[in-house]
Amino acid sequence: TTLGASAAERGGRYFGTAVAANKLNDSTYATILNREFNSVTPENEMKWDATEPSQGNFNYASADQIVNHARQRGMQVRGHALAWHSQQPGWAQNMSGSALRNAMLNHVTQVATHYRGQIHSWDVVNEAFADGGSGARRDSNLQRTGNDWIEVAFRAARAADPGAKLCYNDYNTDNWNDAKTQAVYRMVQDFKQRGVPIDCVGLQSHLNNGSPYPSNYRTTLSSFAALGVDVQITELDIEGAPAATYRNVVNDCLAVPRCTGITVWGIRDSDSWRASQTPLLFNNSGGKKPAYDAVLSAL
Ligand code: XIL
Repeated sequence: TTLGASAAERGGRYFGTAVAANKLNDSTYATILNREFNSVTPENEMKWDATEPSQGNFNYASADQIVNHARQRGMQVRGHALAWHSQQPGWAQNMSGSALRNAMLNHVTQVATHYRGQIHSWDVVNEAFADGGSGARRDSNLQRTGNDWIEVAFRAARAADPGAKLCYNDYNTDNWNDAKTQAVYRMVQDFKQRGVPIDCVGLQSHLNNGSPYPSNYRTTLSSFAALGVDVQITELDIEGAPAATYRNVVNDCLAVPRCTGITVWGIRDSDSWRASQTPLLFNNSGGKKPAYDAVLSAL
């Protein structure tokens, strides 16, 4: 069996990976992708700099390649990411105030409309909270347009694609006791209370020695779920790929009914944004690592 098929048998969950369009013609890469995964997330191709390189001119060529590859094979697509402080095109980096706010909202509307009906879940807003103990929003050009920038982005995404689940996605939100986790929790709670459209919380879960696997990870997942949102593990990679840690992450997701899927952030270690840490399930030759066996047997 495979990761995707096993996850599907566990309450209709998915097991996905980040995909780069320029690797789809690498046969080792495509063979593993097509065999093992039933969800994909474009690693960079849907980001603001890729989809709107100059203001008002949209380029969907690379993202469409991934979406078409996935949908032709019955895989789900996670859209990533509509509004984010990073990987903005230069023209947006130089904007502020209502001009930036309107440009961001137009971007959300245009991209979500282009993919309307094709996206399982959108990361509408990515990484909007600060690290450390403040529990504050991250300072960014988008945040400086006003604290309500996140909720207006979610409302625009809902209007453009009413069928997509709308997620807030962040990292270092794995440990229930961290101020950043608590701050995201309070925002989601507030959105649910006020009727701001939000359906899911994405935990990126880039784990390493600095932010290790927390024993309260399952509490984090179940606490978000108790607010009435799905929880998705959206960018999983673990420094050194310890099999036991991968197994724990899978078991924690399976223990929470609203933890609906897991995405690893790449296929082979050599595909990883942190390749030197060998954090993924397949080695550079495409062979299954011990972490793969641990994940498959936990599923
Ligand atoms: C990373 C990609 O993997 C790299 O290829 C790119 O150079 C930088 O971005 N959080 C996110 C992802 O939400 O979009 C990031 O992806 C990793 C951290």
